[in-house]
Amino acid sequence: MLSSLMDPAGRRISYLRLSVTDRCDMRCTYCMSETMTFLPRAEVLDFEELLRLSHVFVGHGVRHLRITGGEPLVRKDIGSFLTELGTLLHRPDDAGRLRELTLTTNGSRLAGFADLLVRAGVRRINVSLDSLDAERFARITRRGTLATTLEGIRAARLAGLAVRINTVAMAGVNDDEFDAMLAWCGQIGADLCLIETMPMGDTGVARQSSYLPLSDVRARLEKRWTLDTIPAAVAANGPARYVRVSETGQRLGFITPLSHNFCSTCNRVRLSCTGRLYTCLGHEDGADLRSLLRGGATDRDLNDAIGAAIARKPARHDFLLERATGQVMGPERHMSVTGG
Ligand code: GTP
Ligand code: 5AD
Ligand code: SF4
Repeated sequence: MLSSLMDPAGRRISYLRLSVTDRCDMRCTYCMSETMTFLPRAEVLDFEELLRLSHVFVGHGVRHLRITGGEPLVRKDIGSFLTELGTLLHRPDDAGRLRELTLTTNGSRLAGFADLLVRAGVRRINVSLDSLDAERFARITRRGTLATTLEGIRAARLAGLAVRINTVAMAGVNDDEFDAMLAWCGQIGADLCLIETMPMGDTGVARQSSYLPLSDVRARLEKRWTLDTIPAAVAANGPARYVRVSETGQRLGFITPLSHNFCSTCNRVRLSCTGRLYTCLGHEDGADLRSLLRGGATDRDLNDAIGAAIARKPARHDFLLERATGQVMGPERHMSVTGG
């Protein structure tokens, strides 16, 4: 068995994003259409299958596991699944031990899960929040209630979880709020991460009109806040580039897939809720691990398929922003299937 996964560009794969469901109790305009059709249950991996694959990936060198969706906390029995995954953090053999278990959530059920997450070994979470204005929040999420998400964030902080707020930056939608959000994050002791809208799947809403280059946003924020660059080497190898906000002491991150490329240090792969391994968010190439699992594959077969997929990991994503037409182009599949 391989002890670690190296791709052709010499990037060591140590981070897996695991989508546990495509379902969500919200319908954010940049993520889903109003009338989203979800996958039949049989197509989604059950917890036994997800656990088996998690063990295989950790055996292969994955050290960071982020649970995503859809909204992971809407999946039935997610609590016991997370608790089970948490045991991978405490394995006696250091070589096969997970170092970090994290979660990305919309916060709608966070209040009820915060203590369980801490008990399972989760130390930090990312929570999506695109506006602090109740009406605007309802408009963007189509189904969400701001107060409920805020309550979830409060519970998470009280339980001792580090929180990063994820805000998708949209021109003409929430671009007048970033100052206020930065100040609020300072008050609650959370980091903030601004994200450029990525063109993933049809949502029934034209995304190019709200595309906002984060370089402009940063320049505007710098007029009011002192932003000290944190060297990329100090931060993890994720897509976010961080600065420290002197006035609050918290971090501010920028995820800029369209205006800037962070692929050269990418250490991650993602498993969709249907068991498809995607080695890049912006490409279709990967491996159908569900067919292997359900066809009676051994761990060795799974290892081989994972290794072969990683050997084909693309050098970079190629979301396109046609500056002339303002059109953005990307994969047909929705982010909620792959979990971002
Ligand atoms: P860390 O695990 O701390 O690095 O957080 P993260 O930023 O990877 O996680 P999160 O789930 O909060 O994702 C924030 C945004 O980053 C989402 O819009 C994801 O789709 C996007 N994202 C995560 N990984 C990648 C990637 O490899 N490529 C691209 N283009 N976007 C990514
Ligand atoms: N572009 C950028 N970010 C997106 N997210 C969901 N869909 C998109 C998209 N099309 C974000 C959510 C969440 C994170 C996992 O991904 O806001 O915080
Ligand atoms: Fe749900 Fe997150 Fe997509 Fe919003 S962005 S619809 S909260 S999965």
